[in-house]
Amino acid sequence: MKVLIATEKPFAKVAVEGIRKEVEAAGYEVAVLEKYTDKSQLLEAVKNVNAIIIRSDKIDNEVFDAAKELKIVVRAGAGYDNVDLAAATAHDVVVMNTPGQNSNAVAELAFGLLVYAVRNFYNGTAGTELKGKKLGIHAYGNVGRNVARIARGFGMEVYAYDAFCPREAIQSDGTHACASVEELYKVSDIISLHIPATAETKNSINYALLSNMPENGILLNTARKEVINEAEVIKFLGDHPKFKYITDIAPAATAEFAEKFPERYFATPKKMGAQTAEANINAGLAAAKQIVGYFKSGSEKFRVNK
Ligand code: 3PG
Repeated sequence: MKVLIATEKPFAKVAVEGIRKEVEAAGYEVAVLEKYTDKSQLLEAVKNVNAIIIRSDKIDNEVFDAAKELKIVVRAGAGYDNVDLAAATAHDVVVMNTPGQNSNAVAELAFGLLVYAVRNFYNGTAGTELKGKKLGIHAYGNVGRNVARIARGFGMEVYAYDAFCPREAIQSDGTHACASVEELYKVSDIISLHIPATAETKNSINYALLSNMPENGILLNTARKEVINEAEVIKFLGDHPKFKYITDIAPAATAEFAEKFPERYFATPKKMGAQTAEANINAGLAAAKQIVGYFKSGSEKFRVNK
């Protein structure tokens, strides 16, 4: 069996070593394709491999067509919107993710970005503090829960809305559960997005929703760029001169955001939420173990395609 690690944005070296150990201990071989710049390199590398470990790497029908021996793809991370699940199923390939393994890293980055935002990008002017502010967590999954935990350490009031998480589960954490997404945006000074990119959520963060927030609100995105209705958020920022948009995923219209709102818009140069040694080790090793478990015992835990 041959397992390919295909990561345009590489794992920490220590995580690659860990994956290699795990895979080789099972008697399998490892191949590595990192920092590739063209899809043709990926199409070449997937020939003759039986499993692939990926991050945000795009795995589409063309990749499945090229990977004739492929049996399983594991997304070392939470969101699997980068994998064409229907194409995977059509090619008889199992797709899994590794939920929760990188969530603390993303949550910690959210606060790194938030402090930067409320201290006016460290430009020397007087900013504000997070203590006492109301933080609205939009989707209360693994990252959302970690954000809530850290927010309490900052002395923030924590609110959440999640269409799929029971109210009691949110409240048992000491987080206020909102009855609707509009209520969450109304009550919060800062919104932290943790929704996946799905048909329902794409473009859902729009002018009308943000209109519920205070004039000096902050929208923080460590989730996906696709959930943002960029044209409407640009208009909203234009109409609300104190509102800030801070993101770990550069928008498609990044030049326009940067040019129009230099003091109220910030994007990390490369998506950094999950980019820690710990998160890479956790997610990478989980992916390796899931592949070995699938081949050795047929375990389909964390399978995301039917
Ligand atoms: C995830 O879905 O797990 C995060 O967005 C991290 O993505 P990355 O592995 O591409 O950094």
